[in-house]
Amino acid sequence: MKPQEFQQAVLDWFEHQGRTDLPWQNPITPYRVWISEIMLQQTQVSTVIPYFERFMESFPNVELLAKASVDDVLHHWTGLGYYARARNLHKTAQLIAFDRDQQFPDTVEELSALPGIGRSTAGAIRSIGFKKPAAILDGNVKRVLARYGAVKGWPGKTVVHNQLWDIAEKYSPNQKTQEYTQAMMDLGALLCTKNSPDCVLCPIASGCKALSEGSQSLYPGKKTKKVTPVRESIFLMLRNSKGHILLQKNPPAGLWGGLWVLPQIKLHTELATICNTLGLTIRSKTVLDKQRHTFSHFHLDYQPLRVEVEESSKNINENNHLVWYNTKKPLSLGMPAPIKALLD
Ligand code: ADE
Repeated sequence: MKPQEFQQAVLDWFEHQGRTDLPWQNPITPYRVWISEIMLQQTQVSTVIPYFERFMESFPNVELLAKASVDDVLHHWTGLGYYARARNLHKTAQLIAFDRDQQFPDTVEELSALPGIGRSTAGAIRSIGFKKPAAILDGNVKRVLARYGAVKGWPGKTVVHNQLWDIAEKYSPNQKTQEYTQAMMDLGALLCTKNSPDCVLCPIASGCKALSEGSQSLYPGKKTKKVTPVRESIFLMLRNSKGHILLQKNPPAGLWGGLWVLPQIKLHTELATICNTLGLTIRSKTVLDKQRHTFSHFHLDYQPLRVEVEESSKNINENNHLVWYNTKKPLSLGMPAPIKALLD
């Protein structure tokens, strides 16, 4: 199909079948597009909706987000995962609010120079938020275009990635950019699904190479599989005489960065040392069932160990990045979902 024909078919389909009632579409602003696009990275629409709504209630504009504490932002992210997204969101909000007088840049170059914004997210903000021309290539669109052009290979590889971007750029229109970008995302999410593409209803079926070969399931190509490594850890639930649980704040970078977590040890023998350092006397211990949390690149098998302790000296305070957490009066702290589940 010629680009114009492709665009027209996609836009006609969008007019009747596209999504127009998602919370971030009412109203559409660059700020709301940005927040929703970051939340939607690696996360499904149905999961994102309540998070987006709570986030907008607390941080209705970039200035309020910039002035919030990073802890408060992480608190709103609790359970969404990939917490670097929230930390970058906060950094970018501060750059826009304080260095750019609250004005979002509208070029792909400037947008993608901001923390946490890649080329595709920049394209989405520009095309949806500013109604200006820009291509996107998120997970859904990669699948649509890999099938459409029968582009072989795993899109994580640079050559494949570049080929897909070339197609995305070739078909991206100069007008109706807001509708077109949303339409391409919707095509991927609603019709050109991973396991059962509904090609009969697809507006670009007549030009789809994979469909003509009957090879839709081969695209996009998969990464050669590696076994997912397993890490093991003991999560200490140190409980004082008031029933409060000790939490520790992680350093800002790295896994669960900036979040409040249970202290972790590798071996049971490390318990005595850690209690000694914290000025805690052990009264009793209970080993709870082992559980698994899966990250993008490894499994974490963790064994919760509940330890009743008594404080023999006051070593626990926020300056040490430590708190006694009262589960009956929870504070607004950012916490990873598995830790929150254990405390609940
Ligand atoms: N996934 C990524 N961006 C999206 C959007 N704007 N609407 C629906 N799903 C999406």
